[in-house]
Amino acid sequence: MSNEIYIAPSVLSTDLERLAEQVTAVERGGADWIHVDVMDGHFVPNLTFGPALVAALRRVTELPLDVHLMVERPEWYIAPFADAGAAVFTFHPETTAHVHRQLEQVRACGMLAGLALNPGTPLSYAEEVIDDLDLLLIMTVNPGFPAQRYIPAITKKVRRARQLLAARGSRARLEVDGGIGRDTIAAVHQAGADTFVAGSAIFRSADPESEVEELRRRCYTVV
Ligand code: DX5
Ligand code: ZN
Repeated sequence: MSNEIYIAPSVLSTDLERLAEQVTAVERGGADWIHVDVMDGHFVPNLTFGPALVAALRRVTELPLDVHLMVERPEWYIAPFADAGAAVFTFHPETTAHVHRQLEQVRACGMLAGLALNPGTPLSYAEEVIDDLDLLLIMTVNPGFPAQRYIPAITKKVRRARQLLAARGSRARLEVDGGIGRDTIAAVHQAGADTFVAGSAIFRSADPESEVEELRRRCYTVV
């Protein structure tokens, strides 16, 4: 049984000079979380934001800030992002030697703890720490850039992830990230995802404010 649907617009696709205005628009439009992609130029070939942006967003919106770390040594950034006001802290298992310890640290800092799996990373990484997860993020593209194409083969992995969470009695949210939009959201919702990151589908649409509800509505399209 999946949870209530959450839509998490990703600020990576905003026009940065209009960041506050665009985040306020999707908040008005019913967004549940604001997704913030943190990239270090090592784990992924791109550079983006740090805790200062999260602190600025904290002053702009009431919505929980869903921070996705695509960086080596995420342990260095747990306290800084907690202090900046992040609500969710998600990292990739390849980036630290001590996944379990870092998940505990994230919770100890008062944030929800998330683990993110790249398309080529097995679901079994999550199996070992399932009781320590508040969120499991299945990447539906290879991380690094917005506006990539959803990888259809990952729909089956999302279904297996939902089965795993159910079998283990986990209440963790099941999030998907990458290429989520009008044409892809229904299949991945029906596979069991309950939390949907969308960057370009929202901020590159004609009306980002209404696109949030349009995506939520599209979850129920017959596929
Ligand atoms: C991908 C990032 C995503 C990105 C998604 O590397 O983790 O969160 O913002 O962008 P879209 O929705 O455009 O694929
Ligand atoms: Zn992301």
